[in-house]
Amino acid sequence: MENKEVLLSAEQIDQRIQEMAKQISRDYQGKRPLLVGILKGAFVFLSDLIRYLDIPVEIDFIAVSSYGADTSSSGVVRILKDLEHSIQGKEVLIVEDIVDTGLTLNYLIDNLSSRQPKSLKVITLLDKPDRRKVEMKVDYCGFKIPDRFVIGYGLDYGEDYRQLTDLCILEP
Ligand code: IMP
Repeated sequence: MENKEVLLSAEQIDQRIQEMAKQISRDYQGKRPLLVGILKGAFVFLSDLIRYLDIPVEIDFIAVSSYGADTSSSGVVRILKDLEHSIQGKEVLIVEDIVDTGLTLNYLIDNLSSRQPKSLKVITLLDKPDRRKVEMKVDYCGFKIPDRFVIGYGLDYGEDYRQLTDLCILEP
């Protein structure tokens, strides 16, 4: 059994999500954006975020290949489950749990842009800037974190730990 050190408590995460939701609600006043959650890691963040938004939103999900039981990116991204509806002409917000190398998000930005949304922006709860391999613009970021493998609050290691309420560092 691995040791777990708390990096961000449930309270800190909740506080920051409220701030992010306020900003997003202001920026999208009078609009009805489509929030695209990246499965599986972002489902906890997405569900907490939308309950603090005071604008109408639509929700869809897309699933991409993850690292499996490994902790480093292979760089190969595959769509495992696509969106249900067309995003053409919509104000789209990608909701991601963590940007690490940036390869996943880079692929998704390219892929979703080609479907002609009216606008496309990115929300991420966590950003590990030290490991970036491709540059991209993140429009809303919750926390910048050091280069450590984190679990909890929806993030897994080999499908374990998603249900932890705090975000923890996985010590091998
Ligand atoms: P990227 O393509 O390297 O930016 O990786 C993004 C994806 O890798 C995220 O959506 C997560 O699913 C996963 N990931 C990256 N870092 C971590 C981590 O520290 N813990 C758990 N999953 C991670």
